[in-house]
Amino acid sequence: MTHKKLFIKTYGCQMNIYDSERMSSMLMLHNYSMTQEPEDADLVILNTCHIREKATEKVFSALGRLHLIKEKKIKKGLTFNIAVAGCTAQAEGSEIAKRAPYVDLIIGPQSYHELPEMLERLKRKQENKKDSKQVVETNFTTVDKFDALNAPYNHKGPTAFLTIQEGCDKFCHFCVVPYTRGAEFSRSVDSIIEEAKKLVSQGALEITLLGQNVNAYHGNYSKYSGEVTLGRLCYELAEHVPNLKSLRYLTCHPRDVHLEQIEAHRDIEILQPFLHLPIQSGSDRILKKMNRKHTVDDYKKIIDQFRQAQPKIAFSSDFIVGYPGEKKQDFLETLKFVQDIDYAQSFSFKYSIRPGTSAGFLEEQLTEEEKGERLQMLKQLLDSQQLKFNEALCHTTVPVLFDRLGKEKGTYIGKSPYLQPVHVVSSEDILGKILPVHITHSGPNSLNGTIKN
Ligand code: SAH
Ligand code: SF4
Ligand code: F3S
Repeated sequence: MTHKKLFIKTYGCQMNIYDSERMSSMLMLHNYSMTQEPEDADLVILNTCHIREKATEKVFSALGRLHLIKEKKIKKGLTFNIAVAGCTAQAEGSEIAKRAPYVDLIIGPQSYHELPEMLERLKRKQENKKDSKQVVETNFTTVDKFDALNAPYNHKGPTAFLTIQEGCDKFCHFCVVPYTRGAEFSRSVDSIIEEAKKLVSQGALEITLLGQNVNAYHGNYSKYSGEVTLGRLCYELAEHVPNLKSLRYLTCHPRDVHLEQIEAHRDIEILQPFLHLPIQSGSDRILKKMNRKHTVDDYKKIIDQFRQAQPKIAFSSDFIVGYPGEKKQDFLETLKFVQDIDYAQSFSFKYSIRPGTSAGFLEEQLTEEEKGERLQMLKQLLDSQQLKFNEALCHTTVPVLFDRLGKEKGTYIGKSPYLQPVHVVSSEDILGKILPVHITHSGPNSLNGTIKN
């Protein structure tokens, strides 16, 4: 078998990062090695995101650039296959096939285990020049893709992602995820523990459990009859994965918060006191229109319960501004709500119409200017809360997991329990260590400190 080079570009959320890592380790077994330069590759995979219009536009402009590389390489008689994976492939496979006929392979997120077989099919088609059509796979297969992808991958670095749940049954009216990732599916506790052990044996100190709706997790476990919650899973991982030093999970839906999840934050030392709990809007009227199925009050009660169980806990959220029909009053309610909660950090987006979602059909769409103005106001408030949160950590000591080198020699960057980047100077190599750091300075986006001996 000839040796081939693979370049993967990943867009979107952490689940795509996880999937890209799994696809590359699977292709290693099929004689591929990684390259950082698309020009050197025999196969390029774009692992795409479809969440907002901008994300999808990025895919098409990247394809345009790859097309030019492909033409040059083909002129030289070299192979250059372009594969589009991820959520845009799933949602707009036929659009991609039409708009970018030079794409060789289109593969949805539920079909990654079929990649080697699809590449073989592509090779046969290319050898038989009469038949040069694309190879497309966007079915929602029932095979457990995770077991099939469970190649002996080589994880690098002290932090790792582990997808435990995929898909979503919530159908918020603005969101494409239920269409791109399919129905909710939970992996078994046994397979998650096995994978976590493997990651730790390959150097991971911290694992972040992933799912589009991770606290809807309801996997089976050979030790129990009946299903296991996310909270329970955290207890099991803390108990059965020796040397795991830090545990996180992402991203939650307020409707699926459960008692065991809250108790897990009280009881499990390695579970980090930071929770991403998106609310999207602070107006009940808009939450209803969005089909979120919870109120502002429900959300506030949940926050109180977490704070009682774990006083160190801090929160982040996602917000959408300018949802169809959002009045000034609704927006002001969102600002007021943010003031009441006090977030450590948050993401905010202008509402973006997505094909196939029901909010796209609503009248009362806001103009880009209106959305832009509101986004700026909300961002300003969220930024000021973030700065306040960062400043409150000044002169305290926090554990920091060092996972990157700084720009200058002898500098290192790690992350705090609240995911703030923390910069320190050290004469010793501290990569891959968790050390107590005394915070001496805090800015809007990062902290500085000194290692405590
Ligand atoms: N499952 C998560 C969110 C996944 S998508 C949850 O339920 O919260 C990540 C974020 O993208 C969402 O929280 C939302 O804020 C944003 N988003 C999703 N669809 C969007 C759209 N059409 N326009 C703007 N932002 C959107
Ligand atoms: Fe999208 Fe809503 Fe599902 Fe989150 S819960 S992935 S926002 S449909
Ligand atoms: Fe994007 Fe798909 Fe993740 S749409 S945010 S890559 S689930």
